[in-house]
Amino acid sequence: MSKKAEKIYTPKIVAFLCTWCSYAGADLAGTGRNQYPPNIRVIRIPCSGRINPVYIIKALLEGADGVMVSGCHPGDCHYLVGNYYARRRFVVLKKLLTTAGFDPDKVHFTWVSASEGARFADVVREVTEKVSALGISMETTAAMTEKDSSVTEFPHKNRRRDDSAVFQEQQEELIALCKKLLEDETVSRIIGFQQGGEMGMSLPCIIEAPGEADKLVWNERCVPNLSGYLSELSEKDGKTAIVAKPCDARAVVNLIKENQLKRDDVYIIGLGCNGMVNNNGELLHGCLDCSVHVPPVYDVYIGDEDGSYGTLTTGDEDGSYDSLTTPPTKVGTPPLEGNSLCQGGRPSFTQERFADEMSKCILCFSCRQSCYGCYCKTCFMERGEPDWQTASPDMGAKMLYHLGRAMHLSGRCVGCGACENACASGVDIRYLIHEVKQFIEQTYDYKTGMDLETEPAMLIYKADDPEIGFLELR
Ligand code: FES
Repeated sequence: MSKKAEKIYTPKIVAFLCTWCSYAGADLAGTGRNQYPPNIRVIRIPCSGRINPVYIIKALLEGADGVMVSGCHPGDCHYLVGNYYARRRFVVLKKLLTTAGFDPDKVHFTWVSASEGARFADVVREVTEKVSALGISMETTAAMTEKDSSVTEFPHKNRRRDDSAVFQEQQEELIALCKKLLEDETVSRIIGFQQGGEMGMSLPCIIEAPGEADKLVWNERCVPNLSGYLSELSEKDGKTAIVAKPCDARAVVNLIKENQLKRDDVYIIGLGCNGMVNNNGELLHGCLDCSVHVPPVYDVYIGDEDGSYGTLTTGDEDGSYDSLTTPPTKVGTPPLEGNSLCQGGRPSFTQERFADEMSKCILCFSCRQSCYGCYCKTCFMERGEPDWQTASPDMGAKMLYHLGRAMHLSGRCVGCGACENACASGVDIRYLIHEVKQFIEQTYDYKTGMDLETEPAMLIYKADDPEIGFLELR
């Protein structure tokens, strides 16, 4: 530890130690008289696989200067595979925290066995040194003051579409199909869209008789992800059909894989889609970087197989047209790696961005209500033991909610943008979830909801999974 850092403060580090290995390793360090800094506050846990990532987030937000987690070495877990599952969670959590602006050196994961007393002392020394070098925690809720609601805009141009004829064609086919499905009793009900929302938005509707099929619509304002309604409907008798854009269909697939739905209870009417628009005629943010235009799984498909709709164009007022597939560039999108939060005593760009978004949030939970992936009967924020939510919607509570939710959605988010579309305060939390989604795609070669066979990335492990961001001893 540098003398300067030592003088400034002595950090408090919460250490989660698996009782079977690392806790015993700590004991051995004591009996072996291996000295280490007295900065850690140990929490003994049965297995590293039992650590809810929200505990780590909560510790940081409540003022811990650092967190370390140590379990049995891979292959040595007392419960055989607990640490294999934990490893993926830790890697993704670290990615999430660094994307939100936390310094990577605040959270450390490692393995220490019961016979490695000297290694335990080395680990604590190393972690203490790294955390001390960061200076006084700036992530504490007290330090994270409320900011102005300056909005970070996506600089995408107005995009016009000329595919009303295609939508019309698809809608006619959809209505005829739905009549037939209800007439021959293939399905008992169909969940789709009808006119009637504010500013031309199409609304979800459920039809149960062939005569009602004429009220179904299919257009560029069919924005909501309908899959969230399925779990409840599947408890009724008979099959439920769903009008599914590619993102809705991917969500249905993921619900099936997470045992929230039975494949036999749902009939997927897949519709080709090149993106939905907002009331200004601009493609929604979630659609700008979407590359899945045909539902990957369906019972029947309405649309071009290759997802091309001929007349679809995008462009600027002056008539200069971009390719639809040009990805959006976010204003000031920060570099993903190597963000440093506290060095020099100033918050990094990423922390400011996150704080800006959080300052807009009023904890109304509309993002959770609109999200297909938030299917828990009781959200972690509303559980009494421990009591996660503070009485007032302060910055800490907002950050805990959004980071905890983002973690829950890792490997589950299909990028439909429902959360962002539902938020009346204009909070863009999708940027955070999107980065984690991409990271999972690249690291574990898993794209959510693309087939019924591949196991969700966060529910499995591989013995040789990379340990990205884990502690390396010098
Ligand atoms: Fe130690 Fe599972 S028992 S990590």
